[in-house]
Amino acid sequence: MKSLIRASIVVAGLCTAGITICSAVNVDTSNSGGTIRSGRLWYDTAGHVINAHGGGIMYHEGTYWWYGEHKVYGSQGNRAHVGIHVYSSTDLVTWRDRGIALPVADAPLRQGMSTSEKTPDSDICDGCVMERPKVIFCPKTGKFSMFFHLELKGQGYRAARTGIAVADKPEGPFKFLRSFRPNGQMSRDMTLFVDNDGKAYHIFASEENKTAHVDELTDDFLDYTGKSVRIMIDESTEGIGICRHGGKYWLIGSGCTGWAPNTARLYVADRIIGPYKRLGNPCRGTNPINNTGPELTWGGQSTFLLPIHGTDRVIAMFDIWNPKNHEESRYVWLPVDFSGEMPTISWLDEWKP
Ligand code: DGJ
Repeated sequence: MKSLIRASIVVAGLCTAGITICSAVNVDTSNSGGTIRSGRLWYDTAGHVINAHGGGIMYHEGTYWWYGEHKVYGSQGNRAHVGIHVYSSTDLVTWRDRGIALPVADAPLRQGMSTSEKTPDSDICDGCVMERPKVIFCPKTGKFSMFFHLELKGQGYRAARTGIAVADKPEGPFKFLRSFRPNGQMSRDMTLFVDNDGKAYHIFASEENKTAHVDELTDDFLDYTGKSVRIMIDESTEGIGICRHGGKYWLIGSGCTGWAPNTARLYVADRIIGPYKRLGNPCRGTNPINNTGPELTWGGQSTFLLPIHGTDRVIAMFDIWNPKNHEESRYVWLPVDFSGEMPTISWLDEWKP
């Protein structure tokens, strides 16, 4: 029988002006055994809770880089007070904290700056919303491009912008370049995808989240060519993750119910620009931690499809959001089974990738 040990640890150990994010949380230390244990708290190699929500993973030269939203304590913890956190791993189980890849512009205490050097006018100032960051490597420039969903401070979710940043190294520091609506269109939940021909695409929930867009990027992966295609029209799909497998493009998404879980849906297409055919819910089994089944995605929401390098295996990544305390949101990572007529994702308490 596995013993559950309750312990207190310090999360991230960072503070910003007026916001305490040095909270101690109760953790279940039975989760740190070299396997993926969905729905439990996960720890980095320093013993701190991994804080990288709504994330995406880039494989680059033997290492996986996990970029995610650094959430803070409380119901307003989805506001960006720290920035985009990055972790690295070679086995997808053991994660090393590589720091804040893209900090909010005015993180004076952490950066040792005086408050007079704050830059509250920046689009990514403390209190904005930075969600679903994704990073891709651009072979032409040798740089790393980060795109994320940005909401401006004090404007709720009305701005619906994309933020773009660039770095020379995967761990950053990323330099924030600009934010705007791509091709003039609203953009919220999003992912990036580099196709076999080297072309990169930004796929995002647009048109008040009703219809998604696939926008082709320029060959520096920092701008748009103007080619844009509407997909999943009027299907209100969020939490979009995409991968290529068996010559087809597989897209997982959720419905639009804020932080509350709903039923996942899988789509397939012959080309990245679609058309995407809806296949239904790929989830199977029950999450015993919250006793929630596949019709509510085990209490979670899709966030990314990760191909395991050098194999034809894919990991489906989800977030179990905790809107009362965003910092305590959990991760669900499960293998995608492509063997049947329709790919399925079954709950596993514990597995090795
Ligand atoms: C659902 C989205 O998938 C999340 O990323 C976040 O934007 C919430 N909505 C906000 O309610």
